[in-house]
Amino acid sequence: MASFNLLLLPGDGIGPEVMTEVQKVAGFLDKAGIASFETETDLVGGASFDAHKKAVTDAAVARAGAADAVLFGAVGGPKWADVPYGERPEAGLLRLRKDLGLFANLRPAVCYPALADASSLKREIVEGLDIMIVRELTGGVYFGEPKEIVTLETGEKRAVDTQIYTTHEIERIAAVAFDLARLRRNKVTSSEKNNVMKSGVLWKQVVTALHQRDYKDVELEHHLADACGMQLVRWPKQYDVIVCDNLFGDMLSDVASMLTGSLGMLPSASLGAPDAKTGKRKAMYEPVHGSAPDIAGKGLANPLAMICSFGMALRYSFNLAEAADLVDRAVADVLASGLRTKDIAAAGQNAVGTTEMGDAVVKALQHLN
Ligand code: IPM
Ligand code: MG
Repeated sequence: MASFNLLLLPGDGIGPEVMTEVQKVAGFLDKAGIASFETETDLVGGASFDAHKKAVTDAAVARAGAADAVLFGAVGGPKWADVPYGERPEAGLLRLRKDLGLFANLRPAVCYPALADASSLKREIVEGLDIMIVRELTGGVYFGEPKEIVTLETGEKRAVDTQIYTTHEIERIAAVAFDLARLRRNKVTSSEKNNVMKSGVLWKQVVTALHQRDYKDVELEHHLADACGMQLVRWPKQYDVIVCDNLFGDMLSDVASMLTGSLGMLPSASLGAPDAKTGKRKAMYEPVHGSAPDIAGKGLANPLAMICSFGMALRYSFNLAEAADLVDRAVADVLASGLRTKDIAAAGQNAVGTTEMGDAVVKALQHLN
């Protein structure tokens, strides 16, 4: 049986609660003889700040780089509102992305049939939806320098963030999108703002040239990012793969999450480039939802995005597509059986807690297997 090293970074808020449930799924795969996992746990975000005065330690980053995959819960919360900017909980997440070179963020938005009514949009708009947002994750305005607030001679302040993209950065993320599209419905929508941003002009040029050179068989279209947001809520099923920069990807993926019923449903994979020798990629898997401090510690959080993120690890890091399908099917079955956490429950419907939902997924896995 194949064996893998997992680094668990539960983080803050509901992170530890949803991480507990994913460990049950890993335990099931082990018992079923599908794969075994050696897990280590470390701190990130506010939890790391409390222990080490750092949003993530060098040692934790090194462990993350050495693991076969990292499972990340969530970071942040009001408790750390006043910590130094460089050590705010989110800085731990951004450093992991940057230091591990995780430039490709895959955010699938799938609307499970059972949840079509949980979306704020009409059933016919979202039913059967299956799109993939490919977000550039290590460049753009998140990391561009200068990034500062300076005081001018007048005493007024001026804030600067810098959006930077190079040909190489655009090309490698576009290639990920085209490759994924070939395995899906063969269509890529590239999204930027070339009507106001130079980085958008270059983005469109590079994607178009790469398409001409290597991916003529894939359908390519360009949507301005604002229009893309509008089309996502108007008729999302027109999309297959959407590729965009770091900031637009952040926004568009939150929009897409509501098409699926809840932010609590969206998993993600953050991947590095394949190693030239081994072909292995550094990878981190995390739910798109945040730390949800308002419900943290109450056992109410939806663990499905975390569980589906582990499913993505099975698919993209461990080459266990069948096991990944099994997890996806178990989640679909649990939802079809009517079980709901509070975030996806209809008005008046009884909601279960985090533990019950996790246990139900494991039961469904046992049943399917
Ligand atoms: C996300 C989050 C992060 C981001 C935050 C927590 C820094 O919103 O992963 O979408 O902006 O990338
Ligand atoms: Mg976000």
